[in-house]
Amino acid sequence: MKKLNLAVLCSGGGTNLQSIIDAIENKELFGEIKIVISNNSKAFALERANKHNISALHLSHKQFATPEEFDQKLLEVLKSNQIDMIILAGYMKMLSPTIIRTYKNKILNIHPALLPHFGGPGMYGIHVHEAVIKSGVKITGVTVHIVDEVYDHGAIVMQKAVEVKDDDTPETLAERVLKVEHQTYKEAIQLFAEDKVEIRDNKTYIKL
Ligand code: GAR
Repeated sequence: MKKLNLAVLCSGGGTNLQSIIDAIENKELFGEIKIVISNNSKAFALERANKHNISALHLSHKQFATPEEFDQKLLEVLKSNQIDMIILAGYMKMLSPTIIRTYKNKILNIHPALLPHFGGPGMYGIHVHEAVIKSGVKITGVTVHIVDEVYDHGAIVMQKAVEVKDDDTPETLAERVLKVEHQTYKEAIQLFAEDKVEIRDNKTYIKL
């Protein structure tokens, strides 16, 4: 088994980050979070990192004159930390093709619905649950997928279903989905630590 060096990128509260921190501490996940990066200086995720003595960095496009300079800095940070995988955990910015190509098949995202439904630009956070409820579907869920150059499109690594109840609001549904996200993300990352994921033609195959 390979101990994965992880960079976790967040924009907000970071409850998924917390579940990964806890999974590593509880030895359910064989990895180490080398750095937490947020584009939002006020993200609680940065505080969570600090509390666990994990390096925390505020890195935003706004700090750089061009997107290329931002990418250069991000790559420098990732390389100096010998990062094996980039974990997007509520990171609300699209990474550039430069980053995605450099870390091909090594960037994961978690999405709070069953892709390829309820994904794409504008579909993040509470908007996803609003759209799910409006559509009338009875089942939603969680998707962990590889990040490629198309929004919410890369190979699906793991999905879990969550029932949509008749009296759900976007908020009650978000809360139930989030609990399942916390369970799913650590399991999906651990598959990579165990080298069990093969990717061909935008599909994953999980070795038993
Ligand atoms: C999570 O529900 C995650 O699935 C979602 O943002 C939330 C972040 O919560 N991500 C997306 O919608 C990406 N399209 P957290 O900061 O508490 O982990």
